Amino acid sequence: MLFSRKIPWVVKYRPKKIDEIVNQEKAKKLFIEWIDTWVSKKPEKKSALLYGPPGSGKNSLVEAVARERGFELLEMNASDYRRASDIERIAKTSSRVRSLTNTRGKIVLLDEVDGISDAADLGALEAILKLVENTQYPVVLIANNPWSPKLWELRNRCLMIEFRRLTKTDVKKVLRSICASEKLVCDDDAVDYIAERSEGDLRSAINDLEAVGEGFGRVTLSAARALLRARDRDLETFNVVRKILVSRYAWQAKEASTQTDLAPNELIGWIHENLPKQAQDPEDLWRAYEALSRADVYFSRIFKSGNWDLLAYAVDMMTAGVALSIKNEQHKFKWVSYSPPETRRLAAEAKEANRVREDLAKIVATHLKCSTSTVKSDVIPLLKVIFDNNPEYAAKLALGLNLSDSMIIYLSENMGSQIVKHIEKLRQEIRQEARKTMFEQKKSRVSSSTAIAKQSEKKEEKNSKGLENFLKK
Ligand SMILES: Nc1ncnc2c1ncn2[C@@H]1O[C@H](COP(=O)(O)OP(=O)(O)O)[C@@H](O)[C@H]1O
Ligand SMILES: [Mg+2]
Repeated sequence: MLFSRKIPWVVKYRPKKIDEIVNQEKAKKLFIEWIDTWVSKKPEKKSALLYGPPGSGKNSLVEAVARERGFELLEMNASDYRRASDIERIAKTSSRVRSLTNTRGKIVLLDEVDGISDAADLGALEAILKLVENTQYPVVLIANNPWSPKLWELRNRCLMIEFRRLTKTDVKKVLRSICASEKLVCDDDAVDYIAERSEGDLRSAINDLEAVGEGFGRVTLSAARALLRARDRDLETFNVVRKILVSRYAWQAKEASTQTDLAPNELIGWIHENLPKQAQDPEDLWRAYEALSRADVYFSRIFKSGNWDLLAYAVDMMTAGVALSIKNEQHKFKWVSYSPPETRRLAAEAKEANRVREDLAKIVATHLKCSTSTVKSDVIPLLKVIFDNNPEYAAKLALGLNLSDSMIIYLSENMGSQIVKHIEKLRQEIRQEARKTMFEQKKSRVSSSTAIAKQSEKKEEKNSKGLENFLKK
């Protein structure tokens, strides 16, 4: 898997043509009509605002239309145009008269305009208004929610095009067709479950389908439930951690910690992982870590002594103690994305590495006719040295033993990809060699058979002569 960097399905199955976009007939019609007026003359409104729930096909439609109608697409995300100067730069290129070589010109696409929120970004909003006024090209704006008061002026100047939330039937239709293209066994009730959960967000539905398909090799209801529920639980835990970290009062933080099924000694791992994301002020961090380490001391005493009375202190420290340490409000209430504890990922990785090691030991053991434990203690360390230092030789070994990519990586993280490349080269050489010998064998077979034929001809000649001689006699 490390080597086959796969394209995510949301990218792979992005609609290529307008026809492949499901539902949204009204939006399609409005948008295409508007774009088509640009070909003959400038339309009344030079900008369109596409809005609607996430994963309903807004970006997909713009891309498909640009492709089919031959427009170049100049696409920017909110993070690319935070400063007014970024917009002004776009405005400059797009206020120029259209070039002769590309008669249709470009579509300027600004995604996530509702993401413009801070006062710092308002300059960008002004600049967008100016851009819309002066542009020579169609300007397309996209927003999930266009109704915020700060966007009212923009709303007035734009052709408003609404995208509807996709229905469950729409979502199921797309999921089924992806299963068919991927030749993935896909149970109806599982597709139904994934579609139901997605609430019309096709992007998240496709991502879920991919996760289940990848993880289990087939999409069944039990697989989908197992995987997606675990993910929900993570989300719940993120919320709890967030509540704890942004608490203003001790009781808030403590109460939040009761809203998860995680044991306190697990929850502390999640807090530890995400604390530095939420609290960035060094003094805040110092205080918060101090509180966390005290909680940790309590936990180790509890486990050593079995004295559970101490648990309340540990929990107080890791919740209220941490929350009240974060004083810098600018950081404290900022929305940042969280991640599960590193230890959990490391544990999963260690488990995987162990499995690879076991499989590898079995292969080598059968070749060397010794036990797997000998291989693990005496042979694998040597193999590691070889794989780290001599990729060419390692490639030959790996090829001979038929090792998987993950085994090769296990043996040498640094040289792994180089070794795999060598193997590919060796394989090609072997293939060529095989083709050559096959060709030569064929050739020699052909020439030897002609030789035999000639010989037998001669023999017959002799025979017939013999007959003549005989008759003569
Ligand atoms: N109406 C639709 N028809 C077909 N595929 C869609 C549709 N809406 C979303 N998708 C799928 O979901 C992904 C995200 O769609 P996108 O157009 O980026 O959504 P939005 O911009 O509305 O958030 C696409 O790659 C595509 O696979
Ligand atoms: Mg989008």
